[in-house]
Amino acid sequence: MKGIVLQSPVGTQVTIGGRQYLYFGGTDYLGMANRSELREGAIQAIESYGISSSASRTSTGTTELHLELEQAISGFAGTAGAVLLSAGYLGMHALLSGLVEREEPLLLQQDAHSSIKEAAVAWCGNRREFDIHDLGTLRKALGDLPASGGRVILAGEGVSPLYGTIFPLNDILELLGERNVLVLVDDAHGFGVLGDQGRGTLEYHGCGREDVVFCSTLSKAFGSFGGCVPASSGVIEKIRRRSSIYHCATPPPAPLSGAALAAIRYVADNPAIIKRLKENAGLLKNGLAALGLPADNPEVPIAPVCPGRVKDLDKVSGRLFEDGILAPFSRYPGSPEGGMIRIVVTAAHSKEQIETLLAALRKFL
Ligand SMILES: Cc1ncc(COP(=O)(O)O)c(C=O)c1O
Repeated sequence: MKGIVLQSPVGTQVTIGGRQYLYFGGTDYLGMANRSELREGAIQAIESYGISSSASRTSTGTTELHLELEQAISGFAGTAGAVLLSAGYLGMHALLSGLVEREEPLLLQQDAHSSIKEAAVAWCGNRREFDIHDLGTLRKALGDLPASGGRVILAGEGVSPLYGTIFPLNDILELLGERNVLVLVDDAHGFGVLGDQGRGTLEYHGCGREDVVFCSTLSKAFGSFGGCVPASSGVIEKIRRRSSIYHCATPPPAPLSGAALAAIRYVADNPAIIKRLKENAGLLKNGLAALGLPADNPEVPIAPVCPGRVKDLDKVSGRLFEDGILAPFSRYPGSPEGGMIRIVVTAAHSKEQIETLLAALRKFL
């Protein structure tokens, strides 16, 4: 299968090369990206604010819409406030540049997303990596730190984009014990997905600690674009004051801010959508388990099919495609040698659509 070029909006079905396909990829977890509420939110925002505010937040780029969106984000997340960022990719940049000193030791999740690793290189001079699958490596990294008693920073991702692994936050906090820490979680794939209210990985773990802070994106579960840090007033104030990522960049354009605001309001008013996503994730994972495939993290809508029992995954993905199903073969950074199929279900998929996928996998695996 060559590079995929969409000729339609993202949804449970997409058009490619003039043909419709059932779609099981991407990150539109709540099925919001093409909802009429978001389109209307975008159109209204264009009518009120045009396209872009064409200036950074601390000069003249802040509109009432940006403030309204920040309020909606914090309302949804259950935090005192929120900072809006120009992209989800900048989330860890904002956290590290706003909250951390360059010389403070950083313990970094080894296989984290490039945005987290690049932010670590940019903002932290004293880094050690650990493996979330082997917390002995974290114990060792901690042991290697000078016993100065200073603060330790730890950074990782709430849900891994490729494998759907959930950050073992409570085990990590237990291991960190009484130390003075600041734990930073990029929850791009957990916000709007995990937890009964969809507040993300921290809610999933029942964590309300002040020294655990997260960033996320509006481009995945919320179907729009832009980054955010929902947090306490102290954290928000520091990021606004110290981070050039915040105050030297133009905020998300009006239509995308309007769409994001509509998305957050929709999810807050329709919490059943979060439950629906979990049901669909469970349906997919049960079906994969019945096919003898790994199906960990039943509440996460991401299912990796990696080389192992199944060979030639690119050919499997190709056969699915011929059958009218797009379950993309991926060589995204961090995929295993030989690539993988990354299957995603959304809250918008019907039971029948998921069963069609499982039946096709049964045929081709
Ligand atoms: C963990 C993580 N952080 C940040 C991003 C980037 O977010 P955005 O695409 O909304 O800029 C991604 C994108 O896949 C991601 O997986």
